[in-house]
Amino acid sequence: MTTGDAVAPAAQSFEIRAFDAPLGAEVVGLDLGQPLRDDDFARIHRAHLDYHVVVFRDQRITPEQQIAFSRRFGPLQIHVLHQFGLPGYPEVLVVSNVIENGKPIGLGDAGHYWHSDLSYKDKPSLGSLLHAQELPAEGGDTVFANMHLAWDTLPAHLRSAVEGRSAEHTYLAKYAELQQRSPWRPNLSAEQIAQVKPVVHPIVRTHPETGRRALFVSEHFTTRVIGLPEDESKALLDELFAHSVRPEHLYRHRWAEHDMVFWDNRSVMHLAAGTPDHLRRKLYRTTIEGDVPF
Ligand code: SIN
Repeated sequence: MTTGDAVAPAAQSFEIRAFDAPLGAEVVGLDLGQPLRDDDFARIHRAHLDYHVVVFRDQRITPEQQIAFSRRFGPLQIHVLHQFGLPGYPEVLVVSNVIENGKPIGLGDAGHYWHSDLSYKDKPSLGSLLHAQELPAEGGDTVFANMHLAWDTLPAHLRSAVEGRSAEHTYLAKYAELQQRSPWRPNLSAEQIAQVKPVVHPIVRTHPETGRRALFVSEHFTTRVIGLPEDESKALLDELFAHSVRPEHLYRHRWAEHDMVFWDNRSVMHLAAGTPDHLRRKLYRTTIEGDVPF
């Protein structure tokens, strides 16, 4: 090697094991703190597309390393509640129920309702990475729903009701309701409200990398079906929400120390199942910008 030659990253020996579930796989033996070779990255990318949720076990990585790995998939998004960004790292949203000196250190009720991250933006998130920092002794699970399966198994009458239709997504849909019951929802500034104007997306979207179709509505952010009277819109959305989260579409993640979970928001919805108030939970989330849904 001559002076100035770049050192190629070393190959890592790791396994990808599919879960016995309608989605999800774990990656064992990979250190995301080390530079990844292109062929190792390609295996991870493929697993993300195939399994929709990838659990990287035992990641002793820093926020910088989480950001660097996330950026390999695309530009990162900064959450509208920027007050819950990790100090010095605006791309990292602190998801936590911990209150210190009377102030929440993170967003404690993130994921209280089923949703796909940032579906209220023109370009919703491609994927999100959540890295465990502090886990409760009980509770704190995250549940994922396979929205390709939800579409594939949708009864014919619902398929024809939604085919070609769009729906509105709004960040503010449940904000006031959440604000009433939690200390984690500050009043939004005019600038924050301007960042989350309602958007319209197709109810059935096509995954831009795999071509698979998926239902793309959620109880948290989807407010109405465009072009339907309010009562019909509500009835249709309620049926779609109920169908999406049937038990046979779900994987429940029980967190282990140092897990980092990477999900595909174009393929799944997720829900934070809840943590007992007296137990501390803290995780760091990055989100990657995706495409305009079609
Ligand atoms: C989220 O919705 O991104 C948070 C999920 C969780 O805290 O389990």
